This record gives sequence, structure tokens and C-alpha cells, in this order.
Amino acid sequence: TRTPVNVTVTGAAGQIGYALLFRIASGHLLGPDVPVNLRLLEIPQGLKAAEGTAMELDDCAFPLLRNIEITDDANVGFAGANVALLVGARPRTKGMERGDLLSANGGIFKPQGKAINDNAADDIKVLVVGNPANTNALIAQAAAPDVPAERFTAMTRLDHNRAISQLATRTGAAVSDIKRLTIWGNHSATQYPDIFHAEIAGKNAAEVVNDEAWLADTFIPTVAKRGAAIIEARGASSAASAANAAIDHVHTWVNGTADGDWTSMGIPSDGSYGVPEGIISSFPVTTKDGKYEIVQGLDINEFSRARIDASVKELTEERDAVRELGLI
Ligand code: NAI
Repeated sequence: TRTPVNVTVTGAAGQIGYALLFRIASGHLLGPDVPVNLRLLEIPQGLKAAEGTAMELDDCAFPLLRNIEITDDANVGFAGANVALLVGARPRTKGMERGDLLSANGGIFKPQGKAINDNAADDIKVLVVGNPANTNALIAQAAAPDVPAERFTAMTRLDHNRAISQLATRTGAAVSDIKRLTIWGNHSATQYPDIFHAEIAGKNAAEVVNDEAWLADTFIPTVAKRGAAIIEARGASSAASAANAAIDHVHTWVNGTADGDWTSMGIPSDGSYGVPEGIISSFPVTTKDGKYEIVQGLDINEFSRARIDASVKELTEERDAVRELGLI
């Protein structure tokens, strides 16, 4: 039998945590034959609710779930971690400036990065979900100098999935016929969902749509503002779809992209496509054997260039701000 994989989830008592843990435990994160140990990391106020969730996990009698540990100590929570899902974060509250938001999250992601550095397994893979996800991932990565930088990733898979769904609805195509969609940049309102290289049943998606006004005025803003639309409709932010995207992100990273397709991940830039090295930006990537590679050689037209640059500019500003705050 296989050795269990240690999966740490922070913010385990939150709404994404509740939608996420049961799918990890039922084998959707890593595969149907991979046993898991869960480590739930919460702040002290969240421990009791996390214990309640753990009771329900027990009650599912999941064959793959070996044990559950609940803690508010990051060193314990990340001990031996092979996969870490950093979901718990400090949300922006009314009147909060960007600097306040970044420093509040720095207070979470810097110590967690250090705890990962000091305690996680050598093959640790980190996905940051908690917002601002890209810059939180940068903060954690900077605090973990002994871990290869490329192990720190940020989630843009929800944006990727949202874009596929919008494109499928518009064109009447099946979701499974849509390939090679890309989210570029930041997981924020400046993100750029790019269909110029996407395919719908083998045909170029931009040509199938053939409507630049729809792209600029409907598709891109609908995808970028979907989070706000969900809050408006549901009275709470995306949770099950965010958890689903986190599952997809890690599953694809570990198990690989399909031939002829790619996915979107926020990853440390190597300078590709003019994105400054080091910032954590979303790119088109293929994955294989637990490693990802940026898809190279795509032609970036003017429409795309302007939008990628705008999102990357926001990321460099966030990086400069956390640098000034001494967080990286
Ligand atoms: P929530 O407020 O329901 O849960 C957050 C949980 O994190 C709480 O239980 C809280 O006690 C815990 N927490 C706070 N600080 C912590 C720390 N230092 N260590 C461990 N746990 C800590 O929030 P929800 O809805 O689960 O969302 C979590 C984060 O995910 C938010 O930042 C949200 O903006 C982000 N998000 C990101 C998406 C993406 O696409 N990247 C999509 C949707 C949400």
C-alpha cells in the first residue's frame, strides 16, 4: 500500500475549507488510490469549528483518509507536509487601504512560509488561495529560502474555469471541447482571460467567437468580476467553486495536463513573455510528473499585450509595496 500523503489546509474552518476537505479526503485531490493524512491549521478561534468538521470527516468513513490533526501551531501544521493549501487569509474590510491589507496578510504568510521552510517535506507543493493570492504566495516564498521557489503557486484556476464556462455558454460548445485557455497576470480585477490561443473543438476560439467587442466588453469583465457577482447573488463569496478550483490546480500539477491542452497557474515568473522575473503571475502551463513548464512561443497580439502588461504592472506594484513593508 502507498504511503499516505500529508496535506495541510490552513483556514480549515472557513467556508472554502468546508467545501475542500471532503473532496481531499475522498481522493479527488491526488487520485483515487492515494491515502491522505490531513493537517488542519487554524487560528485559536477557529479550532472548535475545525474539530466539528473533523468529526464529520470521521463520519464519512473515507477509505483513503488515514488521520486528521488539528492545530493552531504552524510548525505542527506543516510538519512533513507534502501539499499545503493556504486558504486562511485576512479579508479586506471596509476602509482598509491596500497597504493595510498587505501587511495584515504578511503577518500570516511570512510566518507560514517560514514554518513550511523549517518543517515541510522536501517535495512540498504549495498553493495559495487566500487573497491577495499572488502576493501572499510571494511573501510565503520569500520566507522559505530553502524551498525551491517554483513550489509556491497561486490560484488562478477558478478564473480559468470561469472563463471556460463563459466561453462554452457563448458558443454552445461543450466545456470538454475547450482547450488552451489562458489566464494571465494577477488573480484580481486586472486578470486577463485570453482566448486567442484557445481552441473550441479544434478551431481557434477567437475566430469562432469573431466579436472583439464581446471579448472586451462582456467576456473579460464577466470573468474578472465574477467573484463580486457571486457575493451579490449568494450573500457570501465563492466557496465550492473555489474549493473545486483548488482541487483542480493541485490535481493537474501532480497528475499532468492532457496532451494538447494546458492550464493556468500563478507561478514565479522566469521572465517569459516580458513578465518580470520573480513576481508570481498567472501563465499558461503544461504539467508532467509533478512539474510545470510555461508554454513558450505564443504570439501575443496588441489586444493581449496591453492587458497582460496592466495586470503585471499591478503585481509589480504589490511586490514593491510588500518590499517596502519589509515582508519580502
Ligand atoms: P472564511 O473567512 O470563511 O475562512 C477563512 C478561515 O481562515 C477562517 O476559518 C479563519 O479562522 C482562518 N484563518 C485566518 N487566519 C488564519 C491563519 N493565520 N492561519 C490559519 N487559519 C487562518 O474565508 P473563505 O471564504 O474560506 O476564503 C478564504 C480565502 O480565499 C479568502 O482570502 C478569499 O478571498 C480567498 N479566495 C480566493 C479565491 C481565488 O480564486 N484565489 C477564490 C475565492 C476565495
